[in-house]
Amino acid sequence: MPSTLMGTLFASPSSMLARSGCSQTLHPCPLIAMNPTRREFLAGAAAAGLAPYLPARPVAAPAPFTFVFMSDTHVGLKGNLVQNEAMLAEIGALKPDFVINGGDVTDYGWSGEYANYRALIAPHERANIPFHHLAGNHDVRWSPLGPKAYREGTGDPMFTSFDHKGCHFVLLDSTVPLSHYGHFEAKMLRWLARDLEKTGPKMPVFVFTHHWVGKDGIMVDNEVALLEILKPYNVVHIFNGHGHSDLLWTWDGIANTMNKGLYQGSWMRVDIDPVAGTAGIARRAGEPTLDAAKPQPLWTGSLKGGAKEMLTPERARLHRIDNGPWVEGAPVLASTVAGPHRVSLKTGTEYARAKGFEIPTDRKTTVLASRKLKGGVMSHLRLDGDRVLVSQMGGAVLCADAETLRPIWEATTGDYCHSSPEVCGDLVVVGSADGKMYAFDRKSGKE
Ligand SMILES: [Fe+2]
Repeated sequence: MPSTLMGTLFASPSSMLARSGCSQTLHPCPLIAMNPTRREFLAGAAAAGLAPYLPARPVAAPAPFTFVFMSDTHVGLKGNLVQNEAMLAEIGALKPDFVINGGDVTDYGWSGEYANYRALIAPHERANIPFHHLAGNHDVRWSPLGPKAYREGTGDPMFTSFDHKGCHFVLLDSTVPLSHYGHFEAKMLRWLARDLEKTGPKMPVFVFTHHWVGKDGIMVDNEVALLEILKPYNVVHIFNGHGHSDLLWTWDGIANTMNKGLYQGSWMRVDIDPVAGTAGIARRAGEPTLDAAKPQPLWTGSLKGGAKEMLTPERARLHRIDNGPWVEGAPVLASTVAGPHRVSLKTGTEYARAKGFEIPTDRKTTVLASRKLKGGVMSHLRLDGDRVLVSQMGGAVLCADAETLRPIWEATTGDYCHSSPEVCGDLVVVGSADGKMYAFDRKSGKE
């Protein structure tokens, strides 16, 4: 990065912080106040539909602003309130336009944890710093009511977007209730496609997701569906949570970052300069101490869009087919089974998933056997010789013939059952949401 640009972005924090406050949140106000000021009169008249008759005002030049991204506060994890509080004190001192918490706000999604979290951020909200949130797997995975508790605990919807000083911010929901892994629901992706269509291809877009995207160790099974929606737009940066690591990488040319948890001493300051057309990120990393640490310059990018530098197969050092092992050089297709596949490319911190390809077959896939169960399946099936074991959300555990799926025995637990059955000697053992472990006779299914 040129030193002059570095100076613009990071050496003059006071000038970067000069701003008039948050503009993305609208608060209702009375139409005409008693003895109104000029500002109150204009606001009331505009709300009353008189805007076309008011004198034109000069449009304010877009001003530089700062926001903060932090993640994985995990309030409830033993002893981390003090560390989170120290980090929030540093963030509050910056007086950012707003703060985005990238998810895992709490450790177990309990209402008491949300109350403790709200107490932590309350002094900063009173200082007019708005906080926005994403849900994380820890917020929703321990109870079917996790998403409801998250919405009530944070006051935020599961996914949303807003405009702020000429930039568009998209906060995604990657969570799956009762699950560690991520998925982007079709309903949200349809909303996102409409949302970005309205935003247009020029406005700078910042995307936030709890489960990471675009790097090794795939965490969201349909991340490519997100990429296909984002690609036509001016996506400047994707902020990720979940991995508790300080990382920087690119995904098909889009820059991505991830922080450690806030309580682990990591957060990012993002400086946007609409006039210069630049975005800069500085990361605060290290032990969470009560002595304010200065964020260090990490990344700069352009707000103006344009062609992104793509990772090409020729430049890639490693290739991988689907979720197979990374191999040096060109991917080996010889042992790949017929059907649709994708090749991933990697070199250093760059990562790309090339377009899919299909190995044709003249064999048709046919369903050999199927069986209706008493509830959904949220766990792994367990093969036990010529038998297969499956637990179901209705609470039942079924043992069936692995070839025909003919039931051999079925047993019931006291509540929904989303743990995979384990074979332990002569027993089949499984956990249930009633807080109990159940052991069934491997042959008969008797408890
Ligand atoms: Fe986390």
